[in-house]
Amino acid sequence: MGSSTILLIFTILITFSFSGATKPKPKGLSFSFYNKTCPPLEDIVRDALAPVFSEDPTSPAALLRLMFHDCQVQGCDASILIDLSNVPSLMPSEIGASKNFGIRKRESINMVKSVVESVCPRQVSCADLIVLAAREAVAVSGGPKIHVPLGRRDSTSTLGSEAADASLPSADIGVHEALRLFAKLGMNTEEAVAIMGSHTLGVTHCLNIMNRLYMPHGKKSSKMDPDFEVALKVICPESITAFQNASFVFNDPTTFRFDNRYYKNSIAGRGILKIDTELAFNPTTAPFVQQFAAYREDFFQAFGSAFVKLSYAGVLTGNNGIIRSMCNSVNF
Ligand code: HEM
Ligand SMILES: *[C@@H]1O[C@H](CO)[C@@H](O)[C@H](O)[C@H]1NC(C)=O
Ligand SMILES: *[C@@H]1O[C@H](CO)[C@@H](O)[C@H](O)[C@H]1NC(C)=O
Repeated sequence: MGSSTILLIFTILITFSFSGATKPKPKGLSFSFYNKTCPPLEDIVRDALAPVFSEDPTSPAALLRLMFHDCQVQGCDASILIDLSNVPSLMPSEIGASKNFGIRKRESINMVKSVVESVCPRQVSCADLIVLAAREAVAVSGGPKIHVPLGRRDSTSTLGSEAADASLPSADIGVHEALRLFAKLGMNTEEAVAIMGSHTLGVTHCLNIMNRLYMPHGKKSSKMDPDFEVALKVICPESITAFQNASFVFNDPTTFRFDNRYYKNSIAGRGILKIDTELAFNPTTAPFVQQFAAYREDFFQAFGSAFVKLSYAGVLTGNNGIIRSMCNSVNF
C-alpha cells in the first residue's frame, strides 16, 4: 500500500468521523412525500399560521424552539405535544420537564393539524407539522427559506419529564458540550455555530441566567460586556426570586428579526447565555462567528443545512409510529 493510499484512507476516515457533513437523508423521507396524499399541505400550513404570526410577534421564536425540543427528545416525533403520558409511571409527560420551561405555542400546532385534517384526513403527521411550522417561523422572520423533506411519523408515547430533562441541554452549557450535542445530529462545527443563531429570535427568562449573572467572582466568564451585565442585572435582580420565572430579556435587540445580529452580539460580549458569548471566543467556533457576523448569506446557507439535519433526528418512518388524528393525544 503506497503512502498516498494510506493518506487517502486516513483522509476518508477523518472526513467521516469528524465532519458530520455526511448525514444522509433518512430512508422514508422525501420532498414529494405528500404530493399525492396532501398536495396543498405547505400552503395550508403557511395560511393557517399567518394569523398566529401577525397576532403574536413572539410566536416564530416559540415555534422554532418547539422543534428543537421535540427533535432533541426521542427524535422529531411530536412527543412534546402529548399532554398526558399513556404510561402512568412516566407522568408527567415530556412537556413537564423543567428544561421545557418557556415552551409555548404547542396549541398552534394542534390548530394547524385540525385545519390539515379537514382537507387531508389522517395523512399528515404532527411531527412534520412541527418542522414545517418552524420552517415558516424562520422564513416569516426574514430568515432563509428552507426546503425540508417530509414523511416523519408520530410517536405513540412520551418518555416522560425526567428523560426529557436528561436529553435537553442545560442553560449553562459551554461550547464543547454544544458541539458534542450537534455532532450527534450529524452537524459539523460550521452548522453547529449556525444553528445556535436561532437565538437571534425570542426571549430568555431570568431563571435561566441567574447562575450566570450571580456566580461568585472568579468562576464567572470574563467575556461578558460589563455594561451589558449591569443592564441584565437590573431586569433580573438577585433579591426578587419570585419574578425569575416571569421576567425575561430579549435574546437579541432585533428579537423579531431572523438576522445575523446574534453573532455581532457574541463578539461584543453581549450573548445572553454562556454559550451565546463563548462561541465568539472559543478558537474552534470563533472563525465561523466572525464569518456569519460579516456575511449574512453564509449564515443563512449553513443554517438551512443545519436545520435540515436537526429535522432528521431519530425520525420514525414507513411502518414505524403512527399518524395521530389529534396532536396532543395518542390515539390508536
Ligand atoms: C445547545 C444549545 C442550546 C441551549 C443551551 C439553549 C438554551 C435556551 C434557553 C435557556 C432559552 C431560554 C428559554 C426561556 O427562558 O424561555 C432558549 C431560548 C430559545 N432557543 Fe435555545 N438553546 C440551545 C439551542 C437551540 C437550538 C438548536 C434552537 C433552534 C433550532 C434554539 C432555539 C431557541 C429559541 C428560538 C429560543 C427563544 C424561545 C422563545 O422566545 O420562546 N435553541 N434556548
Ligand atoms: C411535489 O410537489 C412540490 C410542490 O408542489 C413540487 O415542487 C415537486 O416538484 C413535486 N414533486 C414531485 C416528485 O412530483
Ligand atoms: C420556576 O420554574 C422552574 C422550572 O420549571 C420550576 O422548577 C419552579 O418551581 C418555578 N418557580 C416558581 C416560583 O414558579
